[in-house]
Order: sequence, then C-alpha cells, then structure tokens
Amino acid sequence: MPTGSGKGKAILFGEHFVVYGLPALAAGIASETTATITRVRSFGWKLVDNRPAMPGYKEKKYEEQKASIENMLKHLNIDSTKTGFQIDLGGDLVCASGIGASAASCVAIARALNEEYSLGLDDYQINETAYIGEMGYHGTPSGIDNTASTFGGLIWFVRDLNGGSPKFETLKLGSSADLVIASTGLTASTKVVVSDVRKKKDDDPDWFDLISREYNQLVNDARKALIKLNFDKVGILMNKNHELLQDLTVSCKELDNLVNIARENGAIGAKMTGTGRGGNMIALAPDKTTMKGIASALERGGAAGVWTTSFGV
Ligand code: MEV
Repeated sequence: MPTGSGKGKAILFGEHFVVYGLPALAAGIASETTATITRVRSFGWKLVDNRPAMPGYKEKKYEEQKASIENMLKHLNIDSTKTGFQIDLGGDLVCASGIGASAASCVAIARALNEEYSLGLDDYQINETAYIGEMGYHGTPSGIDNTASTFGGLIWFVRDLNGGSPKFETLKLGSSADLVIASTGLTASTKVVVSDVRKKKDDDPDWFDLISREYNQLVNDARKALIKLNFDKVGILMNKNHELLQDLTVSCKELDNLVNIARENGAIGAKMTGTGRGGNMIALAPDKTTMKGIASALERGGAAGVWTTSFGV
C-alpha cells in the first residue's frame, strides 16, 4: 500500500526570526508521521487520523488540516471529484505544537500521493508540496518545518523573502548531541502567534530591528559553536535565544517553568521551540545520564509529554 513518512523536528535556534529571513537551525528527530493512501470506489477524500496526540491537538487543527490537504491536491493536480481515496495517518510522532507535526503530516501525505498516483516527484518537489500544505495551517510559513521534515538531519535554513526557494544546508557534526523535548500539553495556533509577532514588528520596527541584529549574531555564533562541538557555548546561546523569544512575547509561564526545571537539573541550555505560547521546550544535555535525569525531573514537574533524542551525525 502506498505509504509516505515525514519526520518531526525541533528548532534549535530561530523560530519566528526565520519568518523574516534570518537564519535558523533545526534538527529532524527520529519520530515520524506516516500516511497511507487507499483508493475507494466513491469520489472525494476521507481522513482517518490515528496519530498519537496531545489532548485537543487534532480537534484544534482539523479545519487547517483540511485546507492543507486541499492545497496539496490542487498543487499536485489531483482532482478529488474524479478520484476517491482514504488517507490513514499514523506513526510514532506525538502531535503537539512545536514538534513539526503539521509539516510531518504534509510530507507524509505528499510522499504517499506521489507513490499512489506515480507522480515522480523528487524530495525537493515533495518539500515544495509540503510547503503548499503548510500554508493551510498558516499563511506565511517560513518553510523550515517542511524542510526539516523532508530531509532530516541538522539544517541551517534561510528563507528567501522574495518568494524564491529557501537556502538550506545540512550540517554534520563530529559527534552527536543529546536533547530532551518536553511538552506543556497546550496547543497554540501558529497563525495567531505568527501574526501577533508581525504586529509587534510593524508597531515598533526599530525595536524589532535591534532584536533581530542581536539574534543574527547569536545564530551565527551558534553555528560556529556547534561545528566546534562547543556545547557549553551552544547552551548559553540557547538560553539567550529563549530570552529573545520572551521579549517577542511568544513564551509563556508553562514553557518558562519547564525551561527552568531543565536548567536546574543539569541542562547546558534550554529554550522553547517552535510556535510557543504552549507547545514544546528543548534542553541540551551534557551526557546520556544527565539527559535521563532532566527527563525524569520534567515528568515530575508536570510536563505533559517528555521525549529524548539526539542530533548532529
Ligand atoms: C513554527 O514551527 C516555526 C515558526 O517560526 C513559523 C515558521 O517558521 O513558519 C513560528
């Protein structure tokens, strides 16, 4: 049966800033969403969503998800008034804000349709299709989520503000780094949070310019520190990035609480990841034993879900 998959992701540096053409670093994680297409005799498409998810996540995203699938069908010239199929979503990626769940499902669906309808798309075209799908979730996606989901690995990503293809490259580190991901259990609307940030930027362009310059220096330092495997520096920069996101008002007390727990329990650095105002935080661990300790402390501290992963090799 034609099946496709898309990886979850964690933005290490640069959520929100990436929308405005600043570089960002994201890591694909091992957990993924799968999509299977089964042709049916009737016309139209039907979705059976068996993905594990935070409570309320699927309900909150359902209308956007429908728009996203319609976007992708249109882009791929698949006319669902002349064909009929069921999409089954599954996999081990637990859907939560901040983990790239919408992008992972777009990539998985695009890959499954590519197979079923013999479209001959390569990964770049899958990525482009998933980007069109992401537009169903929010009007101005930077493209970082679908790119991390399509290609995996550690990526350095820069959006082209003139509408051209984004520039991205995969970074390979000499050694892997351990990451803890924890969920607040709260689902945020990317559309709402991204447009709030845009409003703040438009209301005070000088302030946004200043903060963007600070971020730009920070992300370039982070890239150098990662390549040198200077994880202590990476951790300090993650903490600073979290402060900048607090300034943008996209963190919240639940995220700040999880970030503090991770830091108090040995994380080298911790920050919110993704949209914010709920969703997930990430913590960089110095070793696997500390990683387990941070994960247990986050569970005791009330995180709605905790996962461990690694990135870089
Ligand atoms: C969402 O995972 C990341 C944001 O920067 C939005 C985007 O890049 O499209 C908030």
